[in-house]
Amino acid sequence: MADTAALRSRNAAFWAGAAAGWIRHAERQDETGRPLGAAAMDRLAARPAERILDVGCGCGGTTAELARAVGETGAAVGVDIAEAMVTAARQRFPDIRFHVADIETLDVVPGAPFDAAFSRMTLMLLADPVAGCATIRRSLRPGGRLAATVFRDGGVNPWLSAAMLGAAPHLGPLPPLPVGDEPGPFSFADPARLVRVLTRAGWTAVTITPYDVELDAPDDADAVAEWLIEVGPAGAAYRAAPLAGQAPARAGAARLLGRFREPGVGYRLPTGLWLVTATTGADHQQPGQDKN
Ligand SMILES: C[S@@+](CC[C@H](N)C(=O)[O-])C[C@H]1O[C@@H](n2cnc3c(N)ncnc32)[C@H](O)[C@@H]1O
Repeated sequence: MADTAALRSRNAAFWAGAAAGWIRHAERQDETGRPLGAAAMDRLAARPAERILDVGCGCGGTTAELARAVGETGAAVGVDIAEAMVTAARQRFPDIRFHVADIETLDVVPGAPFDAAFSRMTLMLLADPVAGCATIRRSLRPGGRLAATVFRDGGVNPWLSAAMLGAAPHLGPLPPLPVGDEPGPFSFADPARLVRVLTRAGWTAVTITPYDVELDAPDDADAVAEWLIEVGPAGAAYRAAPLAGQAPARAGAARLLGRFREPGVGYRLPTGLWLVTATTGADHQQPGQDKN
């Protein structure tokens, strides 16, 4: 397994390269991808006037949803490592505050303390998830709550490897596959690891619940293939490929994604998540607070 510094710089480079694809598909990610975070949104139950942190906010769609829930007397703040995605989020939602930062290396997120933190499909991608989850905890008030989603294992998320494997033969080199506990879509396949990470990061009342959802996409094979390639591990290689290479990559992905397609109806992509909840505990101390 690579050391943490190497994993961090690999992560930052990956998301810098992936950003253009995520920006391009931001609307689809908000609409079709909504079930990916819906359970955590429901569990968080953001209330008017609360201050909520959105970790790994991408192009800001979930931050905007949180902002609507807390209303004008509250605030939602997004943080993401990818500068281009944060720029896109600011353009899409000019009234919301977004920060470019690696959650692992902050003491607290600017604007702390928050009442709660939300995160959709990000925690499993952190190079040092204990450090990242500890920053989130330090950024919350005592009794602050966390609700997040992450992927379970590859078997219950078969479309992810289908899109990548279908496209890969037509593209240049892909990022290295994760080894052991290295960050990647399925690094939290084992829920015991997730509990360990959160507990080491100082969270209490940790719960991990399996959650099965379906992503429903329109019956447009080319568009669905491109979306899933570009938001997956092959995204940067796809964008770097000449147009003549992109078409067979889409066709290859579409072929393997065909088993999720009902012609004339659309795609149903089965997706297995963990819904993660935790709290900072009533006696939680924030940085700079004296315990006595
Ligand atoms: C799978 S995407 C999910 C984006 C968004 N939450 C969504 O569901 O559409 C993961 C996001 O986490 C961000 N990210 C990865 N590592 C991060 C880190 N160490 N600190 C902050 N953001 C990070 C990436 O830039 C990316 O936007």
